[in-house]
Amino acid sequence: MSKKKMVKNVLTKLPHRWRYIGLVLTGSIILYTTCLFLPMEPLDINPTAVLTEGTSRLYGLHNFVSRLPKIQQDIITEETTEERDVREQRRESIKQSFLYGWNGYKTYALGADELKPLSNRSSNPFGGLGATLVDSIGTMLIMELDIDELLPLIENIKVKPDEQMSVFETTIRYVGGLLSAFELSNHPKKHILLDKAEEIGLALLPAFETAFGLPHYHFNLLR
Ligand SMILES: *[C@@H]1O[C@H](CO)[C@@H](O)[C@H](O)[C@H]1NC(C)=O
Repeated sequence: MSKKKMVKNVLTKLPHRWRYIGLVLTGSIILYTTCLFLPMEPLDINPTAVLTEGTSRLYGLHNFVSRLPKIQQDIITEETTEERDVREQRRESIKQSFLYGWNGYKTYALGADELKPLSNRSSNPFGGLGATLVDSIGTMLIMELDIDELLPLIENIKVKPDEQMSVFETTIRYVGGLLSAFELSNHPKKHILLDKAEEIGLALLPAFETAFGLPHYHFNLLR
């Protein structure tokens, strides 16, 4: 039997249902790949807001021209009393919002990763080392809030030996949070922050021992 005949034989012997499924499947794949290569609609951005040379770090890189408007506030050099009042009022209300969230966490979930704001319970999606606590220290320092009572809590954080931890989350939240708080703080006991960052960083090290140096997604000290 020739190859062509064999293929024909197989096709005619296939149940109808399978032929339809095959047809739909092939059609979807063709449609999907076509969509992938369709040109995208250009972004509708006000051209007067276009960044000009010198205001974007990416401008000119491989002929890249950013079409995003600048969102950063210019550094204030002069302001009227009125403008200063508005700015300070805004500053204060941001601080009050932060404190509202922080006090909820402190009351109902201190030491846990997160507060669940509707049930007032807590959850631990980041290994249970107190993610909100660590994340917040830098913010608190910038807001000139006292971190005195937090340092003993930080000192007490214990890396759990049999916990699946995300390498990414551990790096940005715990190691990054502690290091930036250490940099921002003038507290006489701020070494606690650096010591804990080192401890967690060392625990994380085995995750980087891979053939290509790209870390594992998760790490677990016992496995
Ligand atoms: C959670 O705490 C807030 C503030 O103390 C309170 O108003 C709210 O009723 C509490 N919610 C539950 C479900 O207990």
